[in-house]
Amino acid sequence: MSSRNQSLGLAEDETGRFQARLLQLSAPVGVSDIRNRTIHQDVALAAPLLPPTCVDLLIADPPYNQTQSFSDTKFWRIDDEDYEAFTESWLVSLLPTLHPEASVYICSDWRSSQAVHRVCTRHLKVRNRITWEREKGRGAKRNWKSACEDIWFCTMARDYYFDVDAVKLKRRVLAPYRVGGSPKDWDETGGGNFRLTHPSNIWTDLTVPFWSMPENTEHPTQKPEKLVAKLILASCPPGGLVLDPFLGVGTTSVVARKLGRDFVGIDIDEYYCCLAEKRLELAAGDKCIQGYDEGVFWERNSGPNRTPRSR
Ligand SMILES: C[S@@+](CC[C@H](N)C(=O)[O-])C[C@H]1O[C@@H](n2cnc3c(N)ncnc32)[C@H](O)[C@@H]1O
Repeated sequence: MSSRNQSLGLAEDETGRFQARLLQLSAPVGVSDIRNRTIHQDVALAAPLLPPTCVDLLIADPPYNQTQSFSDTKFWRIDDEDYEAFTESWLVSLLPTLHPEASVYICSDWRSSQAVHRVCTRHLKVRNRITWEREKGRGAKRNWKSACEDIWFCTMARDYYFDVDAVKLKRRVLAPYRVGGSPKDWDETGGGNFRLTHPSNIWTDLTVPFWSMPENTEHPTQKPEKLVAKLILASCPPGGLVLDPFLGVGTTSVVARKLGRDFVGIDIDEYYCCLAEKRLELAAGDKCIQGYDEGVFWERNSGPNRTPRSR
């Protein structure tokens, strides 16, 4: 294996320490019981025991409707109607824990996107669909390679928190226009010419974690920290509480910690929960998010810290 491989795993002697930090709920709990914790449980069992109206932002990245092995569990592709019923059941079970002005983001691929949208329209106000380009993906001989995913953006109410200034994108200016010799709406820097632009609902600046990135683990569908950072900065006030009911290896919780938000995450898989706890421990001393520097998001491969950091 390459010496530049930075993928995070668990040493045998670490597992017990991280297992001891995990929660399992057996009775209704208060916010202080779950704040900044990882719950190792089926969301169907944990959701009814969560405290009411405390969550400012829900980020859900459920298994998509495809046959997929996770560490100890396997999700089987099911009929669209059954996937819609699955989505409806976990979303409805979590609604009571959301603040009346909370925001909700739900990830999906092209196959599950319509079912997720139908469920969202029944229970939430749908605001937008973000489509993001994933560079990784298997080519196909008789089809287009799937290279994008959706994230449905919804809110509970008409009023909601949204900080657009926190999620602007810094792009290279290809045709720098000047008025009276001065840059028009762009900055001239030693590293190049850049413009700060409003973020659209098409995201092409993300890199799916791979072996030379410190955030990478062996989770098969881990999301980039940069992606989650955009959701949190835009839709959760500083100090607010973020819930992720399909936490995986903890990306949402880790990014929340790095950005000064509280978090609670749930995953059915104990190994992933332990990896999440390990990442949380590292995040206490390293607040870097690749692609987010100096308070702005940079176009892919254009930021000031372009080379992967060593841990
Ligand atoms: C798409 S992955 C989430 C990956 C995550 N966003 C990350 O960056 O690591 C979905 C996760 O849902 C978990 N999961 C599946 N069924 C679950 C259930 N009923 N309750 C809680 N977690 C579940 C799986 O173990 C898997 O880690």
